[in-house]
This record gives sequence, C-alpha cells and structure tokens, in this order.
Amino acid sequence: MRRIWKKHVQEVDLDNVYVWQWPVRITHWMTALSLWILSLTGLYMGYPFLIASGQASEHFLMGTAKLIHFYAAIAFTLSVLSRILWMFMGNWYSRWHRFIPVDRRRWWAMGKTLRYYLFGLRMPPGFVGHNPLAGLTYFFVFIAFLVQIATGLGMYAASAHVDSPFRAFGFLVPVVGGLATAHWIHHITMWLLWMFIVHHVYSAILMSQVEATGTVESIFSGHKFVPREDIVQPGYRLAHPEA
Ligand code: HEM
Ligand code: HEM
Repeated sequence: MRRIWKKHVQEVDLDNVYVWQWPVRITHWMTALSLWILSLTGLYMGYPFLIASGQASEHFLMGTAKLIHFYAAIAFTLSVLSRILWMFMGNWYSRWHRFIPVDRRRWWAMGKTLRYYLFGLRMPPGFVGHNPLAGLTYFFVFIAFLVQIATGLGMYAASAHVDSPFRAFGFLVPVVGGLATAHWIHHITMWLLWMFIVHHVYSAILMSQVEATGTVESIFSGHKFVPREDIVQPGYRLAHPEA
C-alpha cells in the first residue's frame, strides 16, 4: 500500500501551501499546553491525594493547585476565544465552514474518510486543511471547550469574593443544573477531551505517514506539501483515484 502511494507522490509536483497561519498554531499549542496543566491541577482539586499536615496557611497546597488552575484557565479561555474569532477572520482553511460541513462534497468525503479509518479503503480522500471528519470532530471539541469555560466560570463565581466582577458569571450555575452538576460535567468533559486527544495524536501521526504531506510538521511550521494536480479549488483536493 505504501509503495503505491510513494509512487503516486513521486509522480506529481508538490506545492508548498501555507495552511495554518500563526494564530492557528499559537492557539493550538496554547490550548494543548493549558489543557495539560488544567487536567493535572483539576484532578488534584477533585481528588486531593496529597494531604499536608498542619495549618493550610503554612503550605497552601490546595491553594497553589487552584491558583495554577485559574491562571491556566485564563490562558485556555483567551486561546479558545481567539481561535473562534479567527474562524471568521482567518484564511480559507481556518474558517468555520471547515468545521461545520455545509457542502455536499464534505459530507460525501466524510463517509469515505470513516471507511478509510475502518480499513474499508486503502487511501483517505485528500484535503489540504482538515479532512471533513477531523473538522467535524474539532467542532464538537470546541463545544467541549466552551462547556469547560462555562462550568468553570460558574464554579469560580460561586466562591469568588463578593466584590469580584467574576460574580457576574453566577447565572451560569443554575443554567448547568447547579453547583454539584457543574463539578460533575466539568470532570466528565475533561475525560471526554482526553479520549479525543489520544485519538487525535494517533491519527495526526497516521495521516502524516500515509498522506505524506507533512501534516504533523504543519502544526509547527504552517506549511503542507500537497500534490499540485489535487488543488482544484481553495481547500479541496480531489479524492484519490483509489478512494
Ligand atoms: C492537549 C492536546 C491537544 C489538543 C487539545 C489538540 C487540539 C486540536 C484542535 C482543536 C485542532 C484543530 C486546530 C484548529 O483548526 O484550530 C488540532 C489540529 C491539529 N493538531 Fe492538535 N491537539 C493536541 C495535541 C496535538 C499534538 C501533540 C500534535 C502532534 C502530534 C497535534 C497535531 C495536530 C495537527 C497536525 C493538527 C492539524 C490536523 C488537521 O489537518 O486536521 N495536536 N488539534
Ligand atoms: C479543558 C479545560 C479544563 C479542565 C480539563 C479542567 C479540569 C478540572 C477538574 C478535573 C476539576 C475538579 C472537578 C471536580 O472533580 O470537582 C476542576 C475544577 C474547577 N475548575 Fe477546571 N478545568 C478546565 C477549565 C477550567 C476553566 C476554563 C475554568 C474557569 C475559571 C475552570 C475553573 C474551575 C473551578 C472554579 C473549579 C472548582 C474548584 C473548586 O472545587 O473550588 N476550569 N477543573
């Protein structure tokens, strides 16, 4: 299988396409890094497995975990909101219609991509930016990000100082079903996000190997190397002949 594809790649001219502009790359890594920090500190907050003896004011262990969680939450929230804004300002590949499939060809290719993942096809249909299945998955991931922000802000408002402007987010607590439910949703969504991350890193590396267009490298450099003949219109490569 790999030989066929290598032959295909060698036969065509590759175009260097600037796919991911810097806001996409910065927000990607900012979100990924803060998600790690939020998960580690959040797990400790939900299950404090380290108990320090003596007065809390002497060691401030839980306080430190919360402080780091809240600083990381600021980075996370700003990063997610900036990326959502960029969905309306950025280049073709970073726009909202690469996440929500609004045209028939993306729907068509979604089934093909799924078949490829289920070993029903030798090659996935090719796309310069996100393939339609990845794009739709990211749409749900962004919903999960917003759920974390809403439940997090609600919980924060509940214990914020009476003078804190964050008290304004208190209205979110009944919206998500109360404080205990907010904790529960916040916790479960973290595990849902980790299910995504495991699959995401696996498929990024897999697609990078199979498509050989520099997918993993692209989230650092912004550039992909795409068969010229396949760029039929912005954002599209025609399905591979075998797909
Ligand atoms: C906490 C970890 C991570 C999260 C939450 C995450 C999330 C995301 C999201 C939401 C996107 C869509 C990007 C956008 O349009 O703004 C994306 C794209 C991408 N990510 Fe990650 N990511 C994580 C880690 C990684 C790692 C470790 C790698 C490297 C192996 C990676 C490689 C990529 C690549 C190559 C793309 C573009 C793929 C495509 O064309 O669809 N990600 N990621
Ligand atoms: C993906 C991002 C995030 C993850 C994975 C995460 C994870 C967690 C976890 C696991 C807990 C413990 C929940 C429990 O078991 O009771 C927690 C608590 C909390 N998180 Fe997050 N969090 C994230 C984002 C945020 C954001 C954006 C905020 C916004 C302010 C926030 C604020 C809070 C607050 C206030 C608590 C409750 C602390 C307490 O019990 O006093 N989190 N987080």
